[in-house]
Amino acid sequence: MKFFIDTADLDEIKDLASTGLLDGVTTNPSLIAKSGREFIPLIKEICKVVSGPVSAEVAATDYATMRKEADVLRKIADHVAIKVPMTPDGLKVCKELSDDGTMVNVTLCFSAAQAILAAKAGATFISPFVGRLDDISSDGLQLISDIVRIYENYDYFDTQVLVASIRNPLHIIDAAKMGAHVITSPPSVIRQLYKHPLTDIGLAAFVKDWEKTGQKIL
Ligand code: E4P
Repeated sequence: MKFFIDTADLDEIKDLASTGLLDGVTTNPSLIAKSGREFIPLIKEICKVVSGPVSAEVAATDYATMRKEADVLRKIADHVAIKVPMTPDGLKVCKELSDDGTMVNVTLCFSAAQAILAAKAGATFISPFVGRLDDISSDGLQLISDIVRIYENYDYFDTQVLVASIRNPLHIIDAAKMGAHVITSPPSVIRQLYKHPLTDIGLAAFVKDWEKTGQKIL
């Protein structure tokens, strides 16, 4: 399973990249606004820190403007994935860019029907938002299971399921059980994955017992 981080905070990106576990980054207009940074220079900086896919989202919603914005964004680096909304115009842009060899991340997916359309449009990634579905008492993870199963039925669907809008470690564990290809998670949830109280208790006991031996390795 690939791990992407869902943030536009460069310090967080650098910190998690240093673990060696980070495979990519996703951003969106809300995250860019939160960062307070200029969009294009920020994406350039992120691309220098992370060699995997870096998703940069178009701001327009009409075909012609999205297409022009995508052309600007994809010039930033070869590993920029253009993020387009799950709309007819967004998928039109997706098809053209994919045919041209550019990675595309189709965002704001909330149904299996939408995921089928994105795969047919040649999307590199489809981003179903599990947390936002859970928020309205719909089963976000059931959607992941459905999409993974549907894609497995067709060898010619190369689209990777990128589980987005993650709220907690269980979203990641369950998505992994289902065989989702990628998760994009807030940094805080990735850090939670390390934690278990028995690890902390066990480590404290080992440190104490080692001190009793009076030995040193270095
Ligand atoms: C995905 O690419 C989105 O940026 C993100 O996961 C949305 O998450 P949210 O529902 O926490 O805003």
